[in-house]
Amino acid sequence: MSDEIDLKDLPGVGEKTAEKLKDEGYKDLMSIAAASSGEISGKTSIGESTAKKIIGAARNELEMGFDTASKVYEEKDDITQISTNSDKIDELIGGGIETQTISEVYGGYGSGKSQMAFQLSVNVQKEEGEGGLGKGCVFIDTENTFSPERVKEIAENHDMDPDEVLDNIYVARAYNSDHQMVLANEADEILEEQEIGLVVVDSLTGQFRADYTGRGDLAERQQKLNRHLHDLQRLAEVHNVAVFISNQVMSKPDVMFGDPTEAIGGHILHHAAAFRMYLRKGKGDTRICKLVDSPYKPEGEAPFKITEEGIVDK
Ligand code: GTP
Ligand code: MG
Repeated sequence: MSDEIDLKDLPGVGEKTAEKLKDEGYKDLMSIAAASSGEISGKTSIGESTAKKIIGAARNELEMGFDTASKVYEEKDDITQISTNSDKIDELIGGGIETQTISEVYGGYGSGKSQMAFQLSVNVQKEEGEGGLGKGCVFIDTENTFSPERVKEIAENHDMDPDEVLDNIYVARAYNSDHQMVLANEADEILEEQEIGLVVVDSLTGQFRADYTGRGDLAERQQKLNRHLHDLQRLAEVHNVAVFISNQVMSKPDVMFGDPTEAIGGHILHHAAAFRMYLRKGKGDTRICKLVDSPYKPEGEAPFKITEEGIVDK
């Protein structure tokens, strides 16, 4: 949809202006439509009133604005789900993680966030009706913990061709938070060219935590995270994909200790992700998945375990 019109065909945009916009990363209509006039005029030499007109034109072109409820209902119809592989977790969250939205999983070290991400990147490749979408996955790995061996093992235990499964996962390693943001934007191209049903960011917050350590950096960090989440939400909506993000937190996230940096992304993520799951270790090899936020399901818990098959019911 964003490629249908060249930027220079927008009213008020000549070749030169189009170049200026592109140089600053405004490559398509959606990125312009989502920007503020202050942002565009700050980054380029385009004046603020011209920027306003360009943004308006991009929004018109994309037909952004109010929709009737019946159109919204139709679009919701396109929403599909990817199974977590645990019937109990699927039931808890309403069938699986959904396209067109961001699902967040948070929890302490070793709680199973990455394992759930691996499982979903295999499951999305199953056929519709079998828990998948028959599509591939984009995996942004920010902690260097993506494990092809583990993905292979899960695939084999699901009677899937492990090499084919790996071929359908596009992995990129993010070296810092800015790079992570660039990767999310670059994912746009893969999503346009390939049949992709899932975008994973594991973890969403680690690099941001490392890059913005000082107290004075907090505001900038939240602002960048917010922008990143905004980009991810846009990917989810424009390409009808599920976005799955992980967030490492203290094992008791409801207990706020003195240091506000611990609450990384907490506040902002709370509003960005429609579905939020909290994972924790239970007794023995049991783990618990708690549904914390959902647009339509009540809070609740489901026990699960992690085996050679991946995430399974306990
Ligand atoms: P952080 O990234 O450190 O915050 O943790 P995480 O929540 O991503 O943890 P992860 O998903 O890596 O879960 C780790 C747990 O999964 C381990 O403690 C193991 O119990 C289990 N696990 C990891 N790899 C395997 C594996 O190959 N086979 C099996 N059966 N279990 C595994
Ligand atoms: Mg992990």
